[in-house]
Amino acid sequence: MIIAPSMLASDFSHLSDEIIRMDIAGADWIHLDVMDGHFVPNLTFGPPVVAAMRPYTDKPFDVHLMIDEPLRYLPQFLKAGADIVTFHLEAASDPGAVIAAISEGGAKPSIAIKPGTPAEALLPYLDRLYMALVMTVEPGFGGQSFQEDMMPKVRMLKEKRPDLLVEVDGGINAVTAVTAAKAGVNALVAGTSVFGAQDASKAIRGLRACDSSL
Ligand code: DX5
Ligand code: ZN
Repeated sequence: MIIAPSMLASDFSHLSDEIIRMDIAGADWIHLDVMDGHFVPNLTFGPPVVAAMRPYTDKPFDVHLMIDEPLRYLPQFLKAGADIVTFHLEAASDPGAVIAAISEGGAKPSIAIKPGTPAEALLPYLDRLYMALVMTVEPGFGGQSFQEDMMPKVRMLKEKRPDLLVEVDGGINAVTAVTAAKAGVNALVAGTSVFGAQDASKAIRGLRACDSSL
């Protein structure tokens, strides 16, 4: 299981320290939530902040774009050091063009779907993706409850393309991680449960242990 702590739950006044802390605690990827106040009703940070964080770890940056028309800002995120770029299917007028631009830019393409979007909507793009992100909360805020009824989407995607990475994001803790692992999830995004823990390293180990209960 790949564990990707979400910096949305970090102390934004100490981003470099928080990245180093997650790196040492055993994070596999660093998950960065970009929000534009338009696609989602919240604002976070953009390419300059991603670039500012880049020197503090060698771990892959898993950049989750919750922005309208992702193609417009993609070059800046690639330049800032994104390794995996996830954009929302609901936000792109031409998803195929975004996938192509991410791949041509040397990053790994991924598409996210909101809880109300069926997994079938991803099928036309599946063979061109590195990963699919099945949102287990409405995007925009941390600290919400995991929607277990999203797991059939995970199962369906893994059936259609077993080698595709499937990530879930929202409400992940040591308990919901087991549910996700049983459905076939490969990567867990976790904000509150990792940053809110006394011991981040223990929290990450706890999430990773979900595999062992299968
Ligand atoms: C929500 C973000 C998540 C968020 C998850 O829109 O995409 O990455 O940080 O937070 P938790 O783990 O607290 O649900
Ligand atoms: Zn996210």
